[in-house]
Amino acid sequence: MDEKTFARLEAKYKKKNEEYLKAMDAPGAAMKKGPGMGGPGRRAAMGKGPKPKNAKGILKRIFSYIGKDTWKLFVVIVLVLLSAGLSLAGSYILRPIVNSLTEGNATIQSLAMGILKMGIIYLTAVATQYFYARIMVNVSQSALAAIRNDLSRKVGKLPLNYYDTHETGDIMSRFSNDVDALGNMLGNTIVSLVSGVVTLFGTLALMFYTNWILTVVTLVLAPVMALAAGAVAKKSRKYYRKQQAALGALNGYIEETVSGQKVVKVFNHEKAAIDEFDYLNKDLRDKQLFAQFFGGIMGPVMNSLSQVSYAMTAMVGGLLCVLRGFDIGGLTIFVNYSRHFARPINEISMQVTEIFSALAGAERVFQVMDTEPEKEDAPEAISDVAIEGHVILDDVTFSYVEGQEILKHVSFYAKPGQKIALVGSTGAGKTTVTNLLTRFYDIDSGKITIDGVDIKDYKRDFLRKNIAMVLQDTHLFEGTVRENIRYGRLDATDEEVVEAAKLASAHSFIMRLEDGYDTVLEGDGANLSQGQRQLLNIARAAISKAPILILDEATSSVDTRTERHIEHGMDRLMKERTTIVIAHRLSTVRNANAIIVLEHGEIIERGDHEDLLNQKGRYYELYTGKKELD
Ligand SMILES: Nc1ncnc2c1ncn2[C@@H]1O[C@H](COP(=O)(O)OP(=O)(O)OP(=O)(O)O)[C@@H](O)[C@H]1O
Ligand SMILES: [Mg+2]
Repeated sequence: MDEKTFARLEAKYKKKNEEYLKAMDAPGAAMKKGPGMGGPGRRAAMGKGPKPKNAKGILKRIFSYIGKDTWKLFVVIVLVLLSAGLSLAGSYILRPIVNSLTEGNATIQSLAMGILKMGIIYLTAVATQYFYARIMVNVSQSALAAIRNDLSRKVGKLPLNYYDTHETGDIMSRFSNDVDALGNMLGNTIVSLVSGVVTLFGTLALMFYTNWILTVVTLVLAPVMALAAGAVAKKSRKYYRKQQAALGALNGYIEETVSGQKVVKVFNHEKAAIDEFDYLNKDLRDKQLFAQFFGGIMGPVMNSLSQVSYAMTAMVGGLLCVLRGFDIGGLTIFVNYSRHFARPINEISMQVTEIFSALAGAERVFQVMDTEPEKEDAPEAISDVAIEGHVILDDVTFSYVEGQEILKHVSFYAKPGQKIALVGSTGAGKTTVTNLLTRFYDIDSGKITIDGVDIKDYKRDFLRKNIAMVLQDTHLFEGTVRENIRYGRLDATDEEVVEAAKLASAHSFIMRLEDGYDTVLEGDGANLSQGQRQLLNIARAAISKAPILILDEATSSVDTRTERHIEHGMDRLMKERTTIVIAHRLSTVRNANAIIVLEHGEIIERGDHEDLLNQKGRYYELYTGKKELD
């Protein structure tokens, strides 16, 4: 790799890494599940993690999902307390046992009794742990199911502009990452936190009870240890984050080149791709070296520190035994406690980080739920009339984003039995017109009526049921060919499915598929050609009995002969229907009753094919590819 390439790559990824690190810190940030980034545990280990804005409100809301299970939660808390208490008590029993040994009045019987007691206590503690874990899983999973349920219901009701303004990845991550983090918190973290706090204070109390002087010594040592551990942890976190960023960049790059392999090859980009990979690979190695080093010494450092503190405690304790008559049994359990007393502190701080990140996740989940849904239909909205199909746009103006008008004062009238064509250059606003008819978006001003009734006065699903659409971007679902066609009208018979397929010229290719109509289509019909996918989409629209038919570039990937076929089939279908056709291939709209030419959201010409050609305007230009020079 030459220096220039290196410098270019360095600049590119420096910026990328910074963005990545910033995204990790941002409160409630869209934590896209970057490739190579694990679940919430990883996230917590990475550092401060996101913080929720209104933790109390969110907690309250989460508890509302636990609702009727609240009593179980109480049972869990009681069991947690019990188990922590039992564990502490179990180790305390060692004191009299050791004392009886040092004082020389121990018998086999008393020893066996002591050990039996300890055994029973510990076993009970384990049993309580088992029960509260089970109950907690039960509670958290039902709450999670309820949350997922609400979320998915909501997703169906979100207005389309929500999807315009949020990345798909972000929405998906709310469903997976954030819900997972929440589940983890409900299932484990809360219990661990409670048990950690109880153990910490319980141990502390028992330590004071056993010997206050020793306790003070231990407590003086604790902050020293915490500081040392903190320093190493901080370094390690810093490098860990850098490593994560480098890993994300590398994985992202691999993903991109693998999925875009064809383009890489076509543009002869193999060498450049390998260079870039090399750069990222080395970068990751360098950062990983540091991260692993500091991560690796963390354990030994902590260990030696705790040995030091252990030795100090034992020494001071020994002195106390000799000089002040402190009992050996007391010393034994004390050293035991002092070793374990620091552990919950670590755990608690980790749990708190996890809880915060889970709450931030929950906040993002609730944000989706709180998004204003598509406006509910008015109760008096119409839903039971026979639609004939008189579609009128009257002075319609519309903008996706406020202030940027995409359609300006558009008016036209499409009658049943008519075929109206919308033509115009890319980005003129043709698809937008169809989005408005189905009320995917509501218009800013003007009026759209069907059979004289404002479309806002129809129930939404009734309106959509009366409009069959072939969308510009085809989409097929996983399932058989038959199921995909029947998607257009669920009560269609098998014969009707075949009929629709014939009409869409799809029948012959379907019959050539391995299992005919029962062939299973995978991931968006990846095993079909682009044109075949379009034919299935057309069949899906053809099977619906909707009086209004919209074809947006329905045959753009189909050869002209097949297109002719479809046209004949469709003509039959269109007889009593209102059809709106959008096409770039103008030969397909020649026979339309009216052709409307859109340019920058305005209608600049209208008429039938002959008229428009004679006008020698924009349509003439588009149709002949010539610009008239007069
Ligand atoms: N969801 C959206 N949010 C914001 N702007 C949009 C959105 N969809 C489309 N636009 C903008 O609206 C304009 C018209 O888009 P539209 O899809 O209606 O064009 P079109 O005439 O169908 O073009 P094509 O022939 O390429 O399909 C474009 O400038 C586009 O950038
Ligand atoms: Mg379009």
